[in-house]
Amino acid sequence: MNMTGQVSMTVLVIDDDAHIRSSIGKFLIARGHTVIEAADGEKGVEVVESQAVDIVITDVKMPKMDGLEVLRRVRSISPETEVIVITGVKEPENAFRALREGAFDFFNKPFKVEDLNAAIQRTVCYQTLRKETSRMQARLDRLVAQERERGGLNAIIGASEVVVKMKAHIKQVAAAGQTTVLIIGETGTGKELVARAVHSESDRAGGPFVPVNCSAIPANLFESAFFGHKQGAFTDARTDQKGHFELAHEGTLFLDEIGDMPLEMQVRLLRTLEERCIRPVGGSDEIPVDVRVVAATNRSLTAAVEEGTFREDLYYRLNVFVIQVPPLRERPGDVLFLARHFLADYAQDLRKPLMRFSREAEDLLQQQEFPGNVRMLKNTVERAAILCDDGEIDVDDLGFELVERAPIVDSGVDQVVQSLPEAQMDLPALERALLQEALRRTEGNQVRAAKLLGISRMVLRYRIKKCGLL
Ligand SMILES: Nc1ncnc2c1ncn2[C@@H]1O[C@H](COP(=O)(O)OP(=O)(O)OP(=O)(O)O)[C@@H](O)[C@H]1O
Ligand SMILES: [Mg+2]
Repeated sequence: MNMTGQVSMTVLVIDDDAHIRSSIGKFLIARGHTVIEAADGEKGVEVVESQAVDIVITDVKMPKMDGLEVLRRVRSISPETEVIVITGVKEPENAFRALREGAFDFFNKPFKVEDLNAAIQRTVCYQTLRKETSRMQARLDRLVAQERERGGLNAIIGASEVVVKMKAHIKQVAAAGQTTVLIIGETGTGKELVARAVHSESDRAGGPFVPVNCSAIPANLFESAFFGHKQGAFTDARTDQKGHFELAHEGTLFLDEIGDMPLEMQVRLLRTLEERCIRPVGGSDEIPVDVRVVAATNRSLTAAVEEGTFREDLYYRLNVFVIQVPPLRERPGDVLFLARHFLADYAQDLRKPLMRFSREAEDLLQQQEFPGNVRMLKNTVERAAILCDDGEIDVDDLGFELVERAPIVDSGVDQVVQSLPEAQMDLPALERALLQEALRRTEGNQVRAAKLLGISRMVLRYRIKKCGLL
């Protein structure tokens, strides 16, 4: 803002007429703007190339480079700079052309200062709004990034009823300070995201969130990893070391892949959950810990209990509040929702302009199976975003043939497909051979042969005829 309360702009005035330049200049300076003058188009463009200019006011008719060319150059060098053109009153076509090429406004020569003032005011308003919008956009981006980092409820994307319900459950259990939470869901469904949300929605949000992958700890290190150790407790214990429980004090301990915890460790965990105290290896004192445990598994714990690899008492202790994270196939409506969301994210990360999916790509996404759930969908979108170079992601960019599909277990189709030769294939001959083989194995029994091929007897008879086998 300047002294007159207006927003101060840097304005470049380009005109070969020194008199006009200085009269516009004086007028603008009096209103608190910074003015740069240029006597021709080329010099004007040089100014825009070398420094930030908010508004360019240019005459159309000038030697060397005319105002329309100046306009084009300025638009490409500095798209944020607005251009106002001065046109002769007898050349309305110039004004139209200028507007079509992206001029913000025009005024006619000979002009009154009031005309100029109105055009400048409109530009200033517009520029101020635009700056404000991009400032707010940047702020919003920062907030969203922070939120994502924080891993709150908003990081969990999904509009399906099951997800909305799950989020409500997360909120409820988050408020219940120490209650143990068990998260069950297939791989890639977002269990860790849920665990982080439970933490960050709770009063413990200011405390640590300590994720521990139980399947990655060697059995002999479990005890010291969880409870810490005192210096000299064993050969490698050169210093005192805090364990996961102490590190998570006043926060949340996330036990991922809890089903992979060795049995003897399960006993210790259960005891800790009951007593809320730990004793480091080689130490004699019990240390009280205030920790909420959130555990996750993609295996059925009840099956593990039946097999004898998971303690029943620990299972009941963990089973207080269960959050089921639904697989993607149970919320088909979320597929596109998630895909579009990830795409916008990747566009931002990759600094690419906005991208969209073609109709066909969207159809394909919706038909596709995602055994790896959201993680797999996310990876698919990331690859597509990298490959896409024209703003529209098409079927080819999705590269589904590259993605490992869930094996088709018992239809036998995979086996046949696998043996497809590199060279030319004779599909009618293959059909005939399959029919013959089915008939041979069933000793010509058409009912059984049809069953073997997964078709009706009528279709079998039709195909036998078609293939000339009768
Ligand atoms: N609802 C969702 N909204 C946004 N991103 C999600 C969602 N669900 C999962 N993701 C993303 O998918 C990926 C996998 O999620 P996460 O690691 O939480 O899965 P998981 O259930 O722990 O899988 P695993 O069992 O394999 O460890 C992450 O990048 C996560 O951010
Ligand atoms: Mg996980």
